[in-house]
Amino acid sequence: MFLSRLFLVLSPLLSRAAAYHKLSDETLKQLPRPGAEFDIKNGALLAPILRPRVSGTEGNVAVRQHFVDFFRNNLPEWTLEFHNSTSPTPTSNGKEVPFVNLILTRDPPGTHVGDVGRLTMVAHYDSKLTPKGFIGATDSAAPCAMLMHMAKTIDAALTKRWKASGSGLDDLDGPKGVQILLLDGEEAFKSWTDTDSLYGSRALAEDWEYSFHPAMSTYRNPLDAISLFVLLDLLGSKNPTVPSYFKTTHWAYKNMADIEARLRKLGLFKSSPNHPANMAKRKNKKPRREPNFLTEADKKDGSFLGGGIEDDHVPFMARGVDILHIIPSPFPKVWHELIDDGEHLDMNTVEDWTVLVAAFVAEWMELDEFFDFKAGKREEKVKAETVHEQGKTEFEIP
Ligand SMILES: *[C@@H]1O[C@H](CO)[C@@H](O)[C@H](O)[C@H]1NC(C)=O
Ligand SMILES: [Zn+2]
Repeated sequence: MFLSRLFLVLSPLLSRAAAYHKLSDETLKQLPRPGAEFDIKNGALLAPILRPRVSGTEGNVAVRQHFVDFFRNNLPEWTLEFHNSTSPTPTSNGKEVPFVNLILTRDPPGTHVGDVGRLTMVAHYDSKLTPKGFIGATDSAAPCAMLMHMAKTIDAALTKRWKASGSGLDDLDGPKGVQILLLDGEEAFKSWTDTDSLYGSRALAEDWEYSFHPAMSTYRNPLDAISLFVLLDLLGSKNPTVPSYFKTTHWAYKNMADIEARLRKLGLFKSSPNHPANMAKRKNKKPRREPNFLTEADKKDGSFLGGGIEDDHVPFMARGVDILHIIPSPFPKVWHELIDDGEHLDMNTVEDWTVLVAAFVAEWMELDEFFDFKAGKREEKVKAETVHEQGKTEFEIP
């Protein structure tokens, strides 16, 4: 312990590099895939989000309840908090509209709240008021489902890791946690302005700035405790191209791009023309050019132009939080159109993003040795059998 602290003082850069372990090929191969849970009609995770869910409406309440039920029933170790605010909007005739952010956190056991640095994974769950009936499957139903799946993927491994390492207190850069923000009120009601947009994220960033941790804490407030704010938006259409927006977090972008490259090389990217299933469908077996989702891993320091896209990260970035913005540019063709619905998602692309995001978080949290994929499968099997048994019993009762 003493030695590693000394090491940290002497060489912080070196120790960070030393602490970063890549996931093994074996783990990448075995990471669970969403499969039937992402069925757009009756899948347990995604289907309930694919409905209009404008802030302040019944659909918004129902989708939020879906998240709450999912975490309470399946992932009870995650702390669940609401962050509530209200604001009038240009279409509310002076009435206050409620905005409810959901905050899900897993910190190592036995740590103090102000001492845990958190990888913060973010998507918005509200949908746009117009056009009427707008679903927003890429914007951002699918990203929300990806985060649910990610939490489920890493949950048991986190528990195991913290058991093994005494609450992660031996981490060189201090205890690490994970946080998911499902934000409300991202969309404008009328047209995008500074006041008609980002209702939930603006209120949350403002409140967190003044929510001080106890005096001797490592991190001043919950903003300071965000080690990286990873915002997913507009994901789920075919052939996305996501640039690296910020020089300060390009190192994290490169880590994600590296995982993408490895998944592709291992033949695990379903949307790839070179995935075995797609190869099997065509006569000409010559490998095809394979465009990456993350296109700028080799971007040079001088070519970051500033600017960027207005989204939920803005109020956090303005307060000094490090941002990794995972949003395609150009936007998907379905953007803010009625056809941004379940049927227009490219499910292979959705699945690839899902695995990539889960792998990124697993690698960040250094979970490689702590997965028990066999146990995961056993559990699924027991569940399926239980359902079957219940079905049978009910059937047999006259
Ligand atoms: C925030 O809103 C949620 C959902 O409406 C509600 O369940 C919760 O009690 C509210 N929390 C506070 C502190 O008002
Ligand atoms: Zn939108």
